[in-house]
Amino acid sequence: MCGIVGYVGREAAAPILLEGLSRLEYRGYDSAGVAVCTADGLSVHKAKGRLHVLSGMLDGGRAVQGTAGVGHTRWATHGAPSDANSHPQVSRSGKIAVVHNGIIENYAELKDFLQKQGVPFASETDTEVVAQLVEYFYENGKADILDAVGRCLHRIEGAYALGILCADTPDQIVAVRKDSPLILGIGDGCNFLASDVTAILRHTRRVSYMDDGDLAVLTREGIQRYNRLMQPVEMEITRVDWEIDAAEKGGYEHFMFKEIMEQPDALRRAVFPRIRDGEVFLEDFSLPDAYIRSLRKLYVVACGSSYHVGMVGKYCLERMLRLPVEVALASEFRYMDPIVDEHTLVVVISQSGETLDTMAALREAKRLGAKILSIVNVVGSSIARESDEALYTWAGPEIAVATTKAYTTQLAVLDLLGLYLSKTLGSLDEAERRRILDEMLLLPEKLERVLAGKEDIQYFASRYFNLNSVFFIGRNIDYALGLEGSLKLKEISYIHSEAYASGELKHGTISLIEDGTLVVALGTYGKLFEKAMSNILEVKTRGGDVLALTAESRRAEMSRTANGVISIPDAHPMLMPLLGAAPLQLFAYYVALMRGCDIDKPRNLAKSVTVE
Ligand code: AGP
Repeated sequence: MCGIVGYVGREAAAPILLEGLSRLEYRGYDSAGVAVCTADGLSVHKAKGRLHVLSGMLDGGRAVQGTAGVGHTRWATHGAPSDANSHPQVSRSGKIAVVHNGIIENYAELKDFLQKQGVPFASETDTEVVAQLVEYFYENGKADILDAVGRCLHRIEGAYALGILCADTPDQIVAVRKDSPLILGIGDGCNFLASDVTAILRHTRRVSYMDDGDLAVLTREGIQRYNRLMQPVEMEITRVDWEIDAAEKGGYEHFMFKEIMEQPDALRRAVFPRIRDGEVFLEDFSLPDAYIRSLRKLYVVACGSSYHVGMVGKYCLERMLRLPVEVALASEFRYMDPIVDEHTLVVVISQSGETLDTMAALREAKRLGAKILSIVNVVGSSIARESDEALYTWAGPEIAVATTKAYTTQLAVLDLLGLYLSKTLGSLDEAERRRILDEMLLLPEKLERVLAGKEDIQYFASRYFNLNSVFFIGRNIDYALGLEGSLKLKEISYIHSEAYASGELKHGTISLIEDGTLVVALGTYGKLFEKAMSNILEVKTRGGDVLALTAESRRAEMSRTANGVISIPDAHPMLMPLLGAAPLQLFAYYVALMRGCDIDKPRNLAKSVTVE
């Protein structure tokens, strides 16, 4: 996903922009660029490829003078990665420069209109339309830059976070936000713009999250925010409390490995403050008991791994609440005419809190009358801000594209939500509820034991890293966990993989099993262990190679059948996925490492998908 940085102050802008962009590299990109206001107009430099290419062109930023500028890392949507399609995009006179995150959906008709006015285009991007249209109003309407931007915003449709420079007002940046996140940073004698906090945290902890429709003018003296009616609005300033090194590798080779290893502490942050004296406390939770008792259904809506959290959560929540729990992919939910009303609680799960499909599903659910509870990692993110209730996972910044600690903490928070609601509903035996709560407090320590066995998983990865396809099978909650194991492997090792409910094998998939086919068989759910064993035998008799994941209490029995066994400490059946995810994450990590893949920035992927 694209990254934006902006700076206006007394120091040279270019080095600050490049450093900020380097902290956004994890988001995934294919080109980068900066524009700086200089005495001779806008100085624009951009290049396809990694950020070091641009930094080399600019001698680390020292080659460009000027104290106001914007920078961008581009994840191509319209127009292939190229120098010309990189941002900043510039108007024909060179007076206006724009960096953009999102999609201008009606760019083609606007481009056609402008070309008919004789405006030449230099790129294939939708973003260039914004630069040219702003200039069109600026020059033709003899308007000031703010008015010209406002008139442009009335014509464009879609999702956009914009940073705009005008050569005639060299000491200011205009920022606009609609559907794509944009954060303002407040410094001393300087101010910042960023797609996310990591880009500017070295300079300021004081941030303000722009709302949809907001426009802001940044100068070194201050920031003036306007709402969509161009009325000045007060800025709500938030203090960021995590350390920048939390967004650093901290000596690990990859962010992904660091974040896998951080999971015990992340679980402690997500769970411990919310359990006191055998009760669940959800901070700022305001849904009244009467509303909870009126619920007829829960709907979990998310994408990717967050969706997989919902798939595991369905098994847990239905057991605890005795209410139907539907789980939908956000991109499907929007168009499936879902059965949602005021008696439905829609639980939206998102690490970034910015996934466009998920945000759109949230708004659709709201339109249908549901209340929204979101489980989010990024504090102050758009999804959290548009929800009726937001529960943070407190996992800390997750930099690797492949999520790990966010998945685990999302699942833990979902379990806590179930335990909380079950108290009001009286739907769970009190002794069972207390047992689950007590066991949740033991999870971090048990997870540390799982991670201590990482070398065993590394050994299994060394046996299987050259395969072309891998199957994950499991029953009940193991099937749901297998979905995540399969995605982890796919997204960072590029090995084809599929996850199947074990009972489904005989209905088709088993035809794919032949000598040497690897099947990762999840057998952590004790009640169906015998069934899992029989499915493993089905696979083995057809030549498959079985790597099993099971509880320590079942290790010996499993070792008699599977080719390899990974075991995790015994825990309450509903909590086993919280321990079982880490071995699957490590397996994917080591396989990808041995295949020489770009682990933290897998090809074609972005950390947060803010396009449809
Ligand atoms: C997970 O490893 C993937 N990077 C991806 O599936 C991700 O879970 C999905 O894009 C949803 O992101 P979100 O949780 O930030 O909404």
